[in-house]
This record gives sequence, structure tokens and C-alpha cells, in this order.
Amino acid sequence: MLATERESLRHEIAELAEKYEHKRDGMMPVLEAVQEKYHCVSDFAMQEVARQLGVFPTEVYGVVSFYSFLSTEPRGKFAIRLCRTLSCDFAGKREVARQLENELEIKFGETTPDGLFSLEYCNCLGMCDHGPALLVNNDVYTEVSPELVSDILEKYRRMFGPASQLEEKEASHA
Ligand code: FES
Repeated sequence: MLATERESLRHEIAELAEKYEHKRDGMMPVLEAVQEKYHCVSDFAMQEVARQLGVFPTEVYGVVSFYSFLSTEPRGKFAIRLCRTLSCDFAGKREVARQLENELEIKFGETTPDGLFSLEYCNCLGMCDHGPALLVNNDVYTEVSPELVSDILEKYRRMFGPASQLEEKEASHA
């Protein structure tokens, strides 16, 4: 990370911590905001959060490593989390997992080279009667079949593909 990037991250964390009055209770929303913007919570970010909130860095690390939606490694812009718990397993999780890996050409725990998608497993999402269930960032999908995987991925590719970037550009010139 460049010195200027560190400085701007430091500044952003300071602003977030200020918003939560530098209280320990603000740790989760601060970490979520960092994760959302940078797709990970780096060592530097964890140290800064600890410093700004007046807690030990090990405490911040404990939180980041406990919650699956926080990550110390960069994730894709769209983090796909497939439930690996029993009901979803019985409902066909394995076939969905295989389809995701085939379509994205990565394994679980990896990120696509374009940085768009990452694949990981998570535990029960509370949708056990409608498995297999998965999340794409905060969007929930239930009763996902291998056939549905393409449609789901296409939706996010379109959101971030050349067409959407062109639309954004056109909108900014309007
Ligand atoms: S077992 Fe998958 S959502 Fe509960």
C-alpha cells in the first residue's frame, strides 16, 4: 500500500471512528465500512481501527477473523457465499458449488483475476427450508440450482460490465 493510500485510509477510519464517538461499539460498523470500500480489512486498517477506538489490535483481529463477511485478504467486488450447512448440503449445495467453480474458473477461497467475484462457504443463512442458499454481498438467493447460477452471475456482470460503465459515463456527461 502506498503512503498516500495509507494516509487516506487512516483519514477515513478516523472519520468513521469520530462518527461512533471512538467507542468500542462502533467497531463493527467501522470494519464493515472498510470491508465494503476496500474489499478487505488489511493489517494496517486493523491497527488504525484499534488505535482510533482505543482497543487492542488483537481484539480487532479477533472480530475480523470471527465474522465470515470480514476478510483480511482482498475479496472480489461481489463476494459469493454459499451455505455449507446440512440442509443446504442435502438440497444440492455440491452441484451448485461445482457449477460456480466451473463458470468462474476458480476454486472456493479464490477471487477471479478481474477482481469481480470471490467464492467462499458460509454457515447457515437461516433459509434452511429453501436451500441451497447463497449470498452475493447482501443479496440472498434461495433454491439455487446449477442452471440458475449463470443467470445470477450474469446479473452482477451486467452491473459492472462495459455496458454499465458506459452508461455511467454517459450519465455523467448528461
Ligand atoms: S442450512 Fe443452509 S440456510 Fe440453513
